[in-house]
Amino acid sequence: MCIKIIECTDLQPYLSDILKIEKLAFTYDAWSKNTFENLANSDSMHIIIAINSQNKLIGYLIYQETLDFFHIQNLAVAECFRGQGVARGLLEKLYGTNLEGKDPSFSATNLEEKIPIFLEVAVNNLPAIKLYESAGFEILEKKKKYYNPPGIDALVMRKNF
Ligand SMILES: CC(C)(COP(=O)(O)OP(=O)(O)OC[C@H]1O[C@@H](n2cnc3c(N)ncnc32)[C@H](O)[C@@H]1OP(=O)(O)O)[C@@H](O)C(=O)NCCC(=O)NCCS
Repeated sequence: MCIKIIECTDLQPYLSDILKIEKLAFTYDAWSKNTFENLANSDSMHIIIAINSQNKLIGYLIYQETLDFFHIQNLAVAECFRGQGVARGLLEKLYGTNLEGKDPSFSATNLEEKIPIFLEVAVNNLPAIKLYESAGFEILEKKKKYYNPPGIDALVMRKNF
């Protein structure tokens, strides 16, 4: 598997695969084609993709980078490739970006230079909550009816370094 960061302006060749995964992964809040295409208009949005040995896109993570934090905006893995560490690999790539972007002289002794990563996850999305907890994210607060419709609460989670 190859995991790499691409610019949102280079999304087009992957868009149809991403849309197929997105529609199956999210029942009530799937992003539209327009939403993905509009990512290219924002300098702060980036995408990490996972490609398998058959050159097929099997997962993606979209994040916003600001001076003070990263915010995971979207993360999904194709159903038949779940449970194989793809999402963990995408998150690890993001941690690597965090290191490279904020501290070029990174060594194991200066992790404090890294910035936190935030995300929201639906309270009923147990696989995702388990994923983030196993990756060291902690629950900060609950946002009432964040996904509306259907009125499902979200947990705000944060990973510090
Ligand atoms: C959540 C999701 C991204 C996980 O992707 P994945 O590639 O299957 O996850 P990984 O194989 O990397 O799993 C890493 C860890 O997450 C946890 N985890 C993942 N899927 C899980 C499940 N179904 N049940 C319980 N724990 C799970 C486990 O701790 C796992 O570690 P382990 O395999 O050592 O037990 C995937 O299920 C998905 O695309 N879901 C639909 C979209 C979605 O909900 N995205 C998140 C939005 S916030």
